[in-house]
Amino acid sequence: MEVIIQPSPGDCAATGARIIGQLLKGKTEAVLGLATGSTPLPLYRELITMNQRGELDFSTVTSFNLDEYIGLQGDHPCSYRYFMEQELFKDINIEAERTHVPDGLAVDVSDHCRAYEQAIRDCGGIDLQILGLGTDGHIGFNEPGSSLGSRTRIKTLTGKTCEDNARFFESIEEVPRHCITMGVATIMECRQILLFAFGEAKAEIIAKAIEGPVSAMVPASVLQMHPEVKILIDDAAASCLEHADYYKEVFAGKPSWQCF
Ligand code: F6R
Repeated sequence: MEVIIQPSPGDCAATGARIIGQLLKGKTEAVLGLATGSTPLPLYRELITMNQRGELDFSTVTSFNLDEYIGLQGDHPCSYRYFMEQELFKDINIEAERTHVPDGLAVDVSDHCRAYEQAIRDCGGIDLQILGLGTDGHIGFNEPGSSLGSRTRIKTLTGKTCEDNARFFESIEEVPRHCITMGVATIMECRQILLFAFGEAKAEIIAKAIEGPVSAMVPASVLQMHPEVKILIDDAAASCLEHADYYKEVFAGKPSWQCF
């Protein structure tokens, strides 16, 4: 686990975009795992700029999103399909048919989840997964108590997640209680993971995820078991870490061949 602490979300986004750039330049048919929410927005803006400057090509990239609310159609302004169209897809040269977001209106949810897993396998697996972090420790929508061996499936959101996400809706009552999410094991199979977290509100849970015990009660803590994880956080999100100075020293002293 490589913890990269930078002064601002913009700095983290620039670093993340460079890592994604390296992947895309080295692999034409790269498969990206994408997230929604506030956290990846600076990264998506960076990727859009690089794409529009001709520095990044998404024409042969395939993407899989982590999750979607059950009951929301793809053109609903609060659906994650809509979010992705607005915040990234419409501004880059990705092929629409290569983008995948779970279908919130799937009639047979179990069948849809199995097919989603199969589609990921058929593309050769996810090369790089982008993650945000819930204030309750969730990754994707794997809420506390999620099996560390879980696959794509239906989950019930916690009251805390509904509260956190109510800002995107007219009222908290409108936040769907159910979602489809990639499982913890699905995420752990991605070859590389970038988790981003910004601001003081994420500081306590970041410390638990990075320096606490691995536990299903803090699903993000399982990332400690993944060999290729980078945690990109700003100073505010790093403020409860016991070993923040050490992580900064490690990053500052990286040999040039390890830099990105
Ligand atoms: C979104 C997702 C969630 C969010 C998390 C943080 O696709 O999977 O895990 O990353 O809820 O949300 P923000 O970034 O809005 O704080």
